[in-house]
Amino acid sequence: MSNRLMKSAIVTGASSGIGEAYARLVASLGYDLIIIARRKDRLETIAAELEKEYDIAVSLMQRDLCNEKDISVVEEKIRSIENLSVLINNAGFGTLGLFADVDLGKSLRMINLHVTAPVRLVKAALPGMLARREGAIINVSSAAPFLPVSGNVMYNGTKSFLISFSESLEIEVKDAGIRVQALCPGFTRTGFHSVEEFKNVDFSTIPGFLWMSADKVVELSWKALGKRKVVFIPGVVTLLTCTIFNGLFRYLAGKRTAAKGTRQR
Ligand SMILES: NC(=O)c1ccc[n+]([C@@H]2O[C@H](COP(=O)([O-])OP(=O)(O)OC[C@H]3O[C@@H](n4cnc5c(N)ncnc54)[C@H](OP(=O)(O)O)[C@@H]3O)[C@@H](O)[C@H]2O)c1
Repeated sequence: MSNRLMKSAIVTGASSGIGEAYARLVASLGYDLIIIARRKDRLETIAAELEKEYDIAVSLMQRDLCNEKDISVVEEKIRSIENLSVLINNAGFGTLGLFADVDLGKSLRMINLHVTAPVRLVKAALPGMLARREGAIINVSSAAPFLPVSGNVMYNGTKSFLISFSESLEIEVKDAGIRVQALCPGFTRTGFHSVEEFKNVDFSTIPGFLWMSADKVVELSWKALGKRKVVFIPGVVTLLTCTIFNGLFRYLAGKRTAAKGTRQR
């Protein structure tokens, strides 16, 4: 354990996909790690691999961040860490269906995971980061809010919050040496689309050029953090899609009064 930087990082949703890729990246940079998710077996495997490969300590917390009590436990953990330099709020999930039809409990759990947990964990991490005048906070949002479509109401709403929250927070903390990023990936090959919720959705119809790997998303995100890109859309194709089609999607949304995917009177 000699020559370690002795800085720590926390990654939520580190048991697969973008969170796992971020855990691997910060581990390779020498950060001690705390990885959080519900699947303990996945976390144990990843922790063992990373400790073997790098000269770091990895601890895991099996927690459900939709649950307020579990969020409190993680908050307490964060307050107890003296050298927390990186906080990555990544855990998330999607739902299928129109807002009026989606189970309210599921929508409220999404608010807890995408909004309440990141807010509380950032709030817990900031005093230490401000005192040390260094730190990085990455809130994993999505490109989806740039392209409003039906069937994504709570997802877009909660992910939009993360963009606005990160942009405004960065203004307050940038002079204290803290970097903030709202990472807004497009289609990324992860476990996100393989869950029960999406079992009847054929994602193979989405053209290959629109997809990125989790490793690439994370690599670009970390580089962009160094360049102070606060709202960061990784990948040229996703960036162009969001900027070019943003206005078009909003125009079409206004026109679509009786189209597929809208509730009829
Ligand atoms: N993949 C995409 O195309 C895409 C695009 C834009 C944005 N994103 C965002 O990227 C983030 C990571 O997703 P991903 O694509 O990497 O999908 P993923 O492979 O399904 O990873 C999601 C992670 O979140 C964790 N998680 C889910 N619910 C949780 C809960 N209640 N408590 C704690 N952890 C929970 C999962 O772990 P457990 O199941 O073990 O709890 C898993 O580690 C999400 O916020 C997602 O919205 C993804």
